[in-house]
Amino acid sequence: MTENRIKIALTKGRVEKQILPLLDKAGIDCEQIKQKKRRLIFDSPKQPYEFILAKGPDVTTFLERGAADIGIVGSDILTEHRSTQYELLDLKTGQCQFVLASTKDFDPDEPRRKIIGTKYPNITKKYFDSLGQDVEIIKIEGSVELAPLTGLADAIVDITETGTTIRENNLKIYDYLDKVSTRLVVNRMSLKQHSKEIYTLVDKLEGVVTK
Ligand code: PRP
Repeated sequence: MTENRIKIALTKGRVEKQILPLLDKAGIDCEQIKQKKRRLIFDSPKQPYEFILAKGPDVTTFLERGAADIGIVGSDILTEHRSTQYELLDLKTGQCQFVLASTKDFDPDEPRRKIIGTKYPNITKKYFDSLGQDVEIIKIEGSVELAPLTGLADAIVDITETGTTIRENNLKIYDYLDKVSTRLVVNRMSLKQHSKEIYTLVDKLEGVVTK
């Protein structure tokens, strides 16, 4: 039994919060995660699953290195980190969208080299490349909205879910980029070794994903 346990790397925070009700609905025991404090690894005692809670970019690293069999992670992270892992399911939770945003006096058409703050430099570069614009990109780790508010950057490329952060900080959306949702990805070697267990899990989840 032990060797057939499936290690699932789950992105902590927003992704985790929104996926737990779906796991519940699919009959996957995630009681231990719900009762966690500072623990990082959780068992589903009667099922062959073990959950590892990690930050999104680290979920892709665990998968790439084979330290996890399955990853539950946002498509924003997969795209930014150019993950080559095999995507089996769009879980349709964690839905948000990339936007270009700034203060209300920002002029996106002003003909000068702009400074853009973001947690997603690759996605940002691709977006401005598609517009034929060369920009300077500043990598920011969190609270990206601070960048245009403090003069650190002219604008930001970031994800928005409810729009609350943008609204409460008096920012404005200037363009809409790709949509984002939580995906189930799998390490290819694990899929060969544990195909039965992995497809059983995928089938359970597929049955409860919002159509
Ligand atoms: C994300 C994003 C925005 C916020 C948008 O940050 O970077 O800051 O959520 O959400 P909203 O549209 O619902 O207000 P997150 O909360 O993941 O944390 P971070 O800023 O520390 O990265």
